[in-house]
Amino acid sequence: MTALLSFVLLVFWATAALTTSVTSGCVDDTIIFNIGNLTLTVICSNGTGGITSSTISFDSCIGNDDGQLTMGMNFSETCGNITFNGLEITADCTTLAGTIDQSSIDFNAIFEDEDGVLSCAQ
Ligand SMILES: *[C@@H]1O[C@H](CO)[C@@H](O)[C@H](O)[C@H]1NC(C)=O
Ligand SMILES: *[C@@H]1O[C@H](CO)[C@@H](O)[C@H](O)[C@H]1NC(C)=O
Ligand SMILES: *[C@@H]1O[C@H](CO)[C@@H](O)[C@H](O)[C@H]1NC(C)=O
Ligand SMILES: *[C@@H]1O[C@H](CO)[C@@H](O)[C@H](O)[C@H]1NC(C)=O
Repeated sequence: MTALLSFVLLVFWATAALTTSVTSGCVDDTIIFNIGNLTLTVICSNGTGGITSSTISFDSCIGNDDGQLTMGMNFSETCGNITFNGLEITADCTTLAGTIDQSSIDFNAIFEDEDGVLSCAQ
């Protein structure tokens, strides 16, 4: 029960914070963290029966720069203990020196949701 509630809250927060598109026909975006395979899915409804969805993997937009989560790629190859708190992702990442640092990054700094199509932030 606790896990399900956490998941629902994640979806709620994501919906509230990542729905930034202003030009699209999307009137209702639902954003889902697929924590099992580290992907993000957005389902966009245009209000009159049109539904599109797009999925992006965390690894295509998040990197590990000397132990710090950053924009980039393939963080999960060198980071572990990945957790979520609201719209923030936290992980323990290997530094160049071989030690482990913990850091966090906000999803809004990593992903863009434009017209229901997810991409890496510019
Ligand atoms: C990731 O997991 C979600 C939810 O289980 C699933 O719908 C989606 O198809 C999966 N994506 C990939 C690329 O495996
Ligand atoms: C929404 O999508 C449906 C199905 O593609 C389309 O028929 C309809 O014209 C679209 N509505 C708007 C407001 O874009
Ligand atoms: C990330 O991993 C993919 C798949 O293994 C690989 O094709 C790509 O070159 C990697 N990118 C970087 C920047 O390491
Ligand atoms: C995960 O956390 C444990 C306990 O803090 C730590 O010992 C371990 O090194 C971490 N794993 C990774 C891959 O960072």
